[in-house]
Amino acid sequence: MIKYKVLLFSMLFSLAFGAKALDIIPYPSSVEEKGTNFTFKSTNEIHYSADLKKEANSLQELLSKNFSISSKAKIRTSSSGIILSLDQSLKTDLGEEGYTLNSDHNKIEIKAATPAGIFYGIQTLKQLIKVTNSGEKIVSGVAIVDHPRFPWRAFMLDEARYFKGEQAVKDILDEMARLKMNTFHWHLTDDAGWRIEIKKYPLLTKVGSRRDSTQVGVWPSGWESKVYDGKVHEGFYTQKQIKEIIKYAAERHITIIPEIEMPGHSSAAIAAYPWLGVKNSVIKVPGTFGVRYDVFNVADPRVRDFLKNVLVEVMDLFPSKVIHIGGDEVRHDHWKESEMVNAFMKENQIASYAELQVWFTNDISRFVESKGKRMMGWNEIMGNSLHHFTSEDDALIKKPLAKNTIVQFWVGNTNLINDAAEKGHDIVNSYHEYTYLDYDLNKIPLSKSYSFDPIPKDLAATYHRQILGLGTQMWGEWIPTIESMNKLIYPRLAAYAEVGWTEVNNKDYDRFLRSVDKIYAK
Ligand code: ACM
Repeated sequence: MIKYKVLLFSMLFSLAFGAKALDIIPYPSSVEEKGTNFTFKSTNEIHYSADLKKEANSLQELLSKNFSISSKAKIRTSSSGIILSLDQSLKTDLGEEGYTLNSDHNKIEIKAATPAGIFYGIQTLKQLIKVTNSGEKIVSGVAIVDHPRFPWRAFMLDEARYFKGEQAVKDILDEMARLKMNTFHWHLTDDAGWRIEIKKYPLLTKVGSRRDSTQVGVWPSGWESKVYDGKVHEGFYTQKQIKEIIKYAAERHITIIPEIEMPGHSSAAIAAYPWLGVKNSVIKVPGTFGVRYDVFNVADPRVRDFLKNVLVEVMDLFPSKVIHIGGDEVRHDHWKESEMVNAFMKENQIASYAELQVWFTNDISRFVESKGKRMMGWNEIMGNSLHHFTSEDDALIKKPLAKNTIVQFWVGNTNLINDAAEKGHDIVNSYHEYTYLDYDLNKIPLSKSYSFDPIPKDLAATYHRQILGLGTQMWGEWIPTIESMNKLIYPRLAAYAEVGWTEVNNKDYDRFLRSVDKIYAK
């Protein structure tokens, strides 16, 4: 009875004075505070159901490394201690990634339909552990039910412009895991560098991963800069290293989506094999950024075969279902100047350069699908004219983009999202005005990152399911060092994590700011 009175009093107190939300990012679907704390002992037991060995081990390591809490893990059922259990029936309400977390004086119990859900419950638990003034490690009594708003919660790293290396990638993967982000989009090729070993074409990395000198500047004026560093920049991942990084990501329930740019942003490949380009001329890997350079000669069957052979190795390496082929900012004007391209278009009744890009993209899409995978590209692959080097007259599309292609929206009027949805595409929203991490904090302050909604306001409800989620992009032109990169990523990454995970009704910028300050307090 006394206990009941205390509980009632604390509930009334909370109602009267406003309960302070727990510091959890991304904020869960529902949190109920119960009043009795769980206190860790000198040794603790983790009881887990079969299939959760990896999660139990990762919890054990997390408790030890972050909180000096020791524990033993055992496969068994229990009603006390720390309990991890799979429960298929939770799939209906919580989906593939949801979980419940219940704690009281006797237990901390995380339940989910899948190991991914358990993993996310563990990430929440990590944020709930507090050290009291007397040094006790406690978790307050809570009943949390949680699942993500979107299945696609992505961060993109551009390593083509500056190679950052394995440790930097692993550090980002750790941070993504903590924030329940599940997709690492890896931009591995561009004009300024080719960063992935392809065994059939060794010059891609021998030549394409190295440039002599690099334009130096800051966003947004860097493109006009005449200053060069005069230093060699180089680096690439061997397939062995990539496998290791894929494994590291998978342990954190993160899928890696590789991006191999085609048919534009391809100078590093053309520097390695000049016949890939429309101009067929010998070039160096450029150290000047911007959309300036030659593009793949898609009219040449040897070039298309080359790209398919590259994709075979990429698809063998990456277990992800989705393969990203870029497709942004293709200089159609280079195709316009080519006799071979124009003859090919005439022969195949392709009426415009935009249509040629769609034709090529569909050819690659069919190939990717024949290997059981699904293609994704930036929204130019739909054929709209969105840049000064493309023309409205060219954007006459007779044969549309294959429906199964995922469109990553980044540029143009947001009506293009509605258009893509109506045409049946799934969409990842990476609208540059809101999600580009290379834009500095004046252009995209934390509050603007947080305010992003991947679902456009005027998109009919029937299409909402086609918005898979969001991507935030760390483009690399003006971040030569890991420190310069991290300044732009954090803490905005946390805002995008919450955009991807937390229901709109549960978003609260003031609460988020308080928690983010604690999470990133040094
Ligand atoms: C892009 O920013 N070019 C996708």
